[in-house]
Amino acid sequence: MKVVRSVAQARAERAALPAPVGFVPTMGALHAGHASLVDRARSECASVVVSLYVNPLQFAPGEDFARYPRTFERDAALLESGGVDLLFAPSDDELVGADAQTAVEVGAVAARLEGERRPGHFRGVATIVHKLFNIVAPQRAYFGQKDAQQLAVVQRMTADMDVPVDIVACPIVRDVDGVALSSRNAYLSAEERRDAVRLSRVLRMIADGLGAGRRDIDALIRESLPTLLPLRNDYVAVVDPRAFEPLDFAPAGVDLLVVGAAYCGATRLIDNVPAHTA
Ligand code: PAJ
Repeated sequence: MKVVRSVAQARAERAALPAPVGFVPTMGALHAGHASLVDRARSECASVVVSLYVNPLQFAPGEDFARYPRTFERDAALLESGGVDLLFAPSDDELVGADAQTAVEVGAVAARLEGERRPGHFRGVATIVHKLFNIVAPQRAYFGQKDAQQLAVVQRMTADMDVPVDIVACPIVRDVDGVALSSRNAYLSAEERRDAVRLSRVLRMIADGLGAGRRDIDALIRESLPTLLPLRNDYVAVVDPRAFEPLDFAPAGVDLLVVGAAYCGATRLIDNVPAHTA
């Protein structure tokens, strides 16, 4: 595995890789969720490129940018053993210059839910992902359904900007108790980690209700929310997985996504569960 730090080196090494090139963008602190994306890329592509960059543009002031877990040596070893060809790990100011004046702004799909709670977040994600696509020029890029709204934003952005890349959506990897793996789970105490299961449980409950024929989404969410305790609700909503606009009525026979964010102690967790309405 080659490790490069600059855009120029990344372009040069990329040019020598056989196509199709599969790309997995990450912020490091890697876990089995990230590894599943790398495995999928490895199985479908001739070459695999991973980026590791804690992107300052996608953290709002007061968020956890400074203390986001950074475990470079471990991450690099994991990627090497996963068969990655090229690791692009730009230094802090390589990708985001102080003189930059351009951003990628995605519309309605980025406006609600995470977009509403984290102003500027999806602009930061879309901007950095567009830049990474320009540098790595992959044929395919792999994203986890864990960050379902991010996935929808990236799909919208690549379609709107005619970026010649196929976006591949990969299933959420969970711990045995059902908690979605996340780099931020590292912030949880043992007790908080036990409580964290409540988020996936409440989302699953709502998905089951939709599968059993419930139509009244507001009432269904209200009845299910006590299961979230002691976590504190940020939002729980049911959306079309492409639109990310909260629905209050579930039509029959459609695929929806139950999405949620909750505070477990001081840590904000997000998760989602697919639902097929009866
Ligand atoms: P990061 O949080 O490191 O996630 C990198 C990729 O791993 C994302 O596509 C995310 O959805 C996926 N992922 C995380 N946890 C997962 C899990 N439990 N199961 C499956 N996939 C999982 O998402 C980002 O970084 C950044 O926003 C980035 C796209 C790199 C732009 O900066």
